Amino acid sequence: MTISESDDKTDIPEEPDRRQFLEKATCAVAVAGVAAAAWPFISSMNPARDVLRKSTTEVDISQIPVGEVKTVEWQSKPVFIFHRTPDQTTTMQASTGSKIDPQTDEERVLNPEWLVVIGLCTHLGCVPNKKPEGWFCPCHGSVYDNSGRVLRGPAPKNLYLLPYQFLSTDKLLLGKA
Ligand code: FES
Repeated sequence: MTISESDDKTDIPEEPDRRQFLEKATCAVAVAGVAAAAWPFISSMNPARDVLRKSTTEVDISQIPVGEVKTVEWQSKPVFIFHRTPDQTTTMQASTGSKIDPQTDEERVLNPEWLVVIGLCTHLGCVPNKKPEGWFCPCHGSVYDNSGRVLRGPAPKNLYLLPYQFLSTDKLLLGKA
């Protein structure tokens, strides 16, 4: 008795080892292709060298008179460096801020004489104007005190803090605590 042609084809299963090898090889090639295609995008997300260089900024604060604010740029944002008067400091230390974003003055300064904050309104990012009692945002009327704490909205948060340190009594380093 002879084995028919059709029996011969259907009864012999495909070799499992060979199939698995082919599947794994195909997957490996696909993963390598995706990685190669994605690399330029991933690489472009790394900060550029000039950005890294500007991640810290040294500021000479020796020429900022008491009661005055100096605005400097740090990481493309304005930073207010405010040399507070003793009266302003005492008033801010006695206040606990507003109910919008309560915070003590002590939590916001390294040295009570100096307030260092990002100079952008926390509502939609306008630059607030300095007033004797703090800052006023001309865009929608938010008010901040001399500790940068929001007293009246729509701003939802106090002026943002940033990492900084005193290199000496005359020098600040922005961007590194
Ligand atoms: S951006 Fe300042 S109140 Fe809207």
